[in-house]
Amino acid sequence: MKVAVIGTGFVGVVTSAVWAELGHKVTGLDRHQEKIDQLNRGEAWFFEPGLAPLLKQGKQSKRLRFTTSYAEAVKGAEVVAVCVGTPSAKNGTADLTQVFQAAEAMAPYLEAGAIVVLKSTVPPGTQLKVQALLDKLADKKVAVAVVPEFLREGMAVEDTRRPDRIVIGTGDEKIAKRLIRLHQGLGGERIMVSPESASMAKYTANAYLAQRITFINQIANLCERNGAKISEVIRAISPDKRIGAHYWYPGLGYGGSCFPKDVKELAAYARSIGEGDGLLPKIDELNEERVKLKLKQFEKQVGGYKGKRVTVLGLAFKPDTNDMREAPSLKVIPYLTDTGARVTAYDPKVKDEALALFPGITLANNITGALAQAEIVMALIEWTEIRELTPSAISQAAAEGAWVIDTRNLFIQREIEAAGLRYIGIGNG
Ligand code: UDX
Repeated sequence: MKVAVIGTGFVGVVTSAVWAELGHKVTGLDRHQEKIDQLNRGEAWFFEPGLAPLLKQGKQSKRLRFTTSYAEAVKGAEVVAVCVGTPSAKNGTADLTQVFQAAEAMAPYLEAGAIVVLKSTVPPGTQLKVQALLDKLADKKVAVAVVPEFLREGMAVEDTRRPDRIVIGTGDEKIAKRLIRLHQGLGGERIMVSPESASMAKYTANAYLAQRITFINQIANLCERNGAKISEVIRAISPDKRIGAHYWYPGLGYGGSCFPKDVKELAAYARSIGEGDGLLPKIDELNEERVKLKLKQFEKQVGGYKGKRVTVLGLAFKPDTNDMREAPSLKVIPYLTDTGARVTAYDPKVKDEALALFPGITLANNITGALAQAEIVMALIEWTEIRELTPSAISQAAAEGAWVIDTRNLFIQREIEAAGLRYIGIGNG
């Protein structure tokens, strides 16, 4: 199939590359010429495991190219996937400007019978607005469907090739069949629903996962008061099939480009239809305040940060990405520097951009250098390189009796203490 993908963010680039791998002829579009030039050289402008070879392969096969021209991308396309950003507007609802701009720009070039697929996260009913706009602007009849994206950063290629499910939101059986054909060769169950249900499914999944993390973080707080261990509590609840063992890792709260935004957006959407219920805003509030509360607590435990050499490990919002959107480091490092700490930081993939964000810190080139003479080591992200640090490697490099503040529960307390270090975990580890 000939396919156009509008927007070359994480979703747009990965989707384009995987669809080209499936055998479709894909043209990705973005208004930023530098991004397009880079992508046409077969290089991604962000780090994502497995993406670089896929882009090179797409280029070689001539099935994948990128352009800034709507005419070039959309003319002759059977499917036009909209993968543009939907950031939060001031009132918390999704700002759909880019979705409508894309619809306007593609309208003159759409083929009769083309399917416009909304992959961007949009509130229920958006497809009707896009349909109305296209009915007005395009001189041919086209369909609009909602096919939300569930990929995780750091796992985006794998999640696109082998998703748990592909949700196809359309009320039209013929359109559904064509969209099933588009995804042929990918893993996962196909779930056919209405466009409204598809939009709701995306917000529901993200809000549910976000509240799950907030919930376990609240339980971890209780463990810290009563001597229970959060890891043991999780082990004890997870054999219950209704609960399960996955996605229960406590920490400093959820970050990234989706959860914080989508919880706020769903709350704003609920308010906009007169259904504000208090649950979603509370999840957001608890997550927002969590980093500061934990940093204050650690501050007391270690006897203050002032004048201390603090090493922060992990600057991205999660492992296997260089994306820093809503990363814990963005709150942690300013707090540490404001309270007088001397901060050294290390991340396997976030490099020079960190210096612009955090003037006054030292950025180490490697993990051992980062640990040198540290009085406090704060592990923020579970990068493999950080997870695989041994207690003896930490104690050899760090100052004598250094504190290890393990915000992802990566290490075992008694092993850290046996190496002559002091340990603080989340929920007693
Ligand atoms: C998420 C959803 O998983 C994905 O389906 C959706 O399409 C986009 O949002 P992503 O933000 O890439 O993906 O990462 P994810 O691995 O889900 O983690 C989100 C945040 O939650 C991270 O800050 C992570 O550290 C945190 N998290 C995750 C926890 O604190 N504990 C957990 O058990 C899992």
